[in-house]
Amino acid sequence: MTHIAIVGHPVSHSRSPLVHGYWLKLHGIAGDYGYRDVAPEDAAAFFATFATQGLAGCNVTVPHKEVAFQALAHADPVATALGVANTLWLEDGRLCGANTDAPGFIANLDASAPGWDDARAVALVLGAGGASRAVVYGLLQRGFERVLLANRTLARAEAVAAQLGKGVVPVAWSEVPAAMAQATVLVNTTSLGMKGQPPLDLDLSLLPASAVVADVVYVPLETPLLKAAKARGLKTVDGLGMLLHQAVPGFERWFGVRPVVDAGLREVILADLKAKGQLEA
Ligand code: ATR
Repeated sequence: MTHIAIVGHPVSHSRSPLVHGYWLKLHGIAGDYGYRDVAPEDAAAFFATFATQGLAGCNVTVPHKEVAFQALAHADPVATALGVANTLWLEDGRLCGANTDAPGFIANLDASAPGWDDARAVALVLGAGGASRAVVYGLLQRGFERVLLANRTLARAEAVAAQLGKGVVPVAWSEVPAAMAQATVLVNTTSLGMKGQPPLDLDLSLLPASAVVADVVYVPLETPLLKAAKARGLKTVDGLGMLLHQAVPGFERWFGVRPVVDAGLREVILADLKAKGQLEA
């Protein structure tokens, strides 16, 4: 029996056990996927002694993605570039890790908005936190020439640019309207629009008519940004798909079956969001 868990602090809000539980049942695999709440002061020791924790692997969420990366004996290229890991496994007793947030973000766009990357010229990313790095990296890997990166605190956007290379152009928050006119893809990675937070208030008429608007936020599922984009007739991609797609490589690694993000899986998560009153703004 293979035991896997999501490791974070806090962790009880995570939907990863639901996602992997759905696939385990679908494929009739005798494994389980649970929760491990690890306090920040215990995280370094937890990952350093991972082989003794009774787990064959894990996902890692906030705030442990950096600490997990630092404990790896082997990291995949994405984790190495970003300095954060979210998917861990043991190989001959050695702790290995990957970052599946960046490929998960891209896979979600491919699945939800085919043709979204036809131009591969300019993308505009809002926010410079942890989610932003994965999104920016994914866009650069996909071949976008420039990623304009706007953040309320410009220095954080500059730090991401310094880490990820000259394709990333830091943009002051006040310059977002001008940046929108050039972008065929707009991605929100800020916490604006999240339940309980103010909306991200943009004049979407500034975007080209062919633009795709994506949000990393998925509580609520339809953020005010996505609602406004739909009203303008733009293609939209919600944040739930990124969560589902980032889980695919881990499941395949641990359980040996490459799972599919299907409508049934989405329904399971939507039902959970609904039950917790998180579907609506
Ligand atoms: P994560 O790691 O999940 O991406 P984070 O590191 O907490 O989250 O980052 C949150 C992002 O939302 C940041 O880009 C933050 O901007 P700052 O770097 O200036 O803090 C952005 N954000 C939060 N509240 C905001 C607001 N009211 N206006 C603009 N940006 C905001």
